[in-house]
Amino acid sequence: MSNWSHRHILDLATFSIEDYTNVLELAKRFKAVSTSGTRKLPALQGRLITTLFFEPSTRTRSSFELAAKRLSADVQSFSPNNSSLSKGETPIDTALTYVAMGADVLIVRHSSTNVPGELAHYLEEAGHNTSILNGGDGLHSHPSQGLLDLFTLANFFSPNEPIPSAVKDKTIVIVGDILHSRVARSNLWALTACGANVVLCGPPTLLPEEFKDFVKAPPPGQKLDPIKKRGQVTIMRSLKDAFQEADAVMTLRLQIERMHQNLITDLYQYHCEFGINHESLKWCKKDVPVLHPGPVNRGIEMSNAILEDDSICLVSEQVNNGIPVRMALLYLLAAKEN
Ligand code: CP
Repeated sequence: MSNWSHRHILDLATFSIEDYTNVLELAKRFKAVSTSGTRKLPALQGRLITTLFFEPSTRTRSSFELAAKRLSADVQSFSPNNSSLSKGETPIDTALTYVAMGADVLIVRHSSTNVPGELAHYLEEAGHNTSILNGGDGLHSHPSQGLLDLFTLANFFSPNEPIPSAVKDKTIVIVGDILHSRVARSNLWALTACGANVVLCGPPTLLPEEFKDFVKAPPPGQKLDPIKKRGQVTIMRSLKDAFQEADAVMTLRLQIERMHQNLITDLYQYHCEFGINHESLKWCKKDVPVLHPGPVNRGIEMSNAILEDDSICLVSEQVNNGIPVRMALLYLLAAKEN
């Protein structure tokens, strides 16, 4: 792989087109290897990958652990319940414990924004060379989800060549609870970097107007945007209007657990206005695919019938693609000296 410069993977705002190309190219190769019958590769033999999830997860954690095993790494798994956090140990001391055991990569999920970033900074200052891979932090970032969504979309538009430019000039409509979604934020960085135009659609309480400027400047602490020209971001309040131009639709979970005010009045009404079902998809062009990062609130963000319609719903494919994409990320971080 050419020019991989990231010691940690914290946020896609720092990714160049070359970075996206490297991840997608490697993921394509790992996917081809596993579908050809070779399930396990020796690439990370002797490396130690630790999942440090302070917040619940089904997909991300299992997928990273399977990806690490497919590359023959040793895998350690931390769960906050049953851990020494209950005795007052801090997340930093928990991380240092796994570093002392020799972790090459710590995959960190936390409900607070920037815990993985602070941990990366702390470990660097202390002279440790363990890499941090953000498994989702607060409302900030979920880079591996953004990358697997990009891979899934690129693979849909260009099945033999899932490269970043496969999404160029496509219109991707992201619907729902944008405000609380680290997935939406990572997708905004990834998709606009690759030249896609993103339409955000949702009620004002879950989609403030400021989101139209989200990728116009790099985030705090980052001086330059590595992308010269990004795709456009627009906001639409009507699903019917948004769907007219859609080449793909991504809907997001309503994150009730992060809503501290009554941001929606009625779930049925929400589904009528912003739910994806076969009726609302009639406003789109033919055969537009539907994505969702999961977990899905059935009947709210999308109907059961859409979730079970394999001809348009890519949810299972997203989960499946998560494995080669995460293999690529672990390989890029942990096999970097090879
Ligand atoms: N998409 C996602 O992050 O799912 P999990 O919370 O199950 O990991």
